Amino acid sequence: MNQNFDEIISRRNTHSIKWNTSPDILPMWIADMDFKTAPKIIEALQNRVAHGIFGYTETPDEFYNSIIKWWKNKHGLSLEKEWIVPITGVIPALSAAMLSLAEKGDTVLIQPPVYNHFYSTITNCGFEIAENNLIYNNGIYTIDFEDLERKAADPKAKLLIISNPHNPVGRVWTKEELLHIALICKKHHVIVLSDEIHSDLVFFFPS
Ligand SMILES: Cc1ncc(COP(=O)(O)O)c(C=O)c1O
Repeated sequence: MNQNFDEIISRRNTHSIKWNTSPDILPMWIADMDFKTAPKIIEALQNRVAHGIFGYTETPDEFYNSIIKWWKNKHGLSLEKEWIVPITGVIPALSAAMLSLAEKGDTVLIQPPVYNHFYSTITNCGFEIAENNLIYNNGIYTIDFEDLERKAADPKAKLLIISNPHNPVGRVWTKEELLHIALICKKHHVIVLSDEIHSDLVFFFPS
């Protein structure tokens, strides 16, 4: 089914956080698309609403199978059904993971400049933030591995949240960079939470 990505749809006066701003501002600060949702998704939602009863539901195998198929076809990754936990969003998932893996007073490492909600989510969960700032050089951001090693070695450091592709710097971490992160974190018993919400925006696999 074709989708018209050129159609301009006004979202003003729809309680949109993004568009509730003065008319001379073009809001580009939030990952909130202005394309219409895919027709198949709208159709499925309309059919569901038309049924008219919204009681407790099971999660059918179709749900898991479509996720497994997507990751296999798009990213060559084989997922097991048991690894998938349905949740309402990335931030609630990060909160749940942090609360189950760390204790109050523990430190969570992040790699700024990074998605601002990582900060509030970590502090709202009662954890401390340690910043492993990215290095900006000649128009490209890279990871400061020496600093990461130093901060991961702190016994209070329990978790590292990585963003891949990284919001906002746009880097897709290479296999070597990911292996380097894994090596450091394994050595210091730091668990990596990998936020890959933007992974479908990758047009090639980095070498
Ligand atoms: C890296 C990253 N993680 C998480 C989110 C938010 O995800 P959710 O709305 O599912 O909590 C965003 C939204 O911009 C994001 O850029």
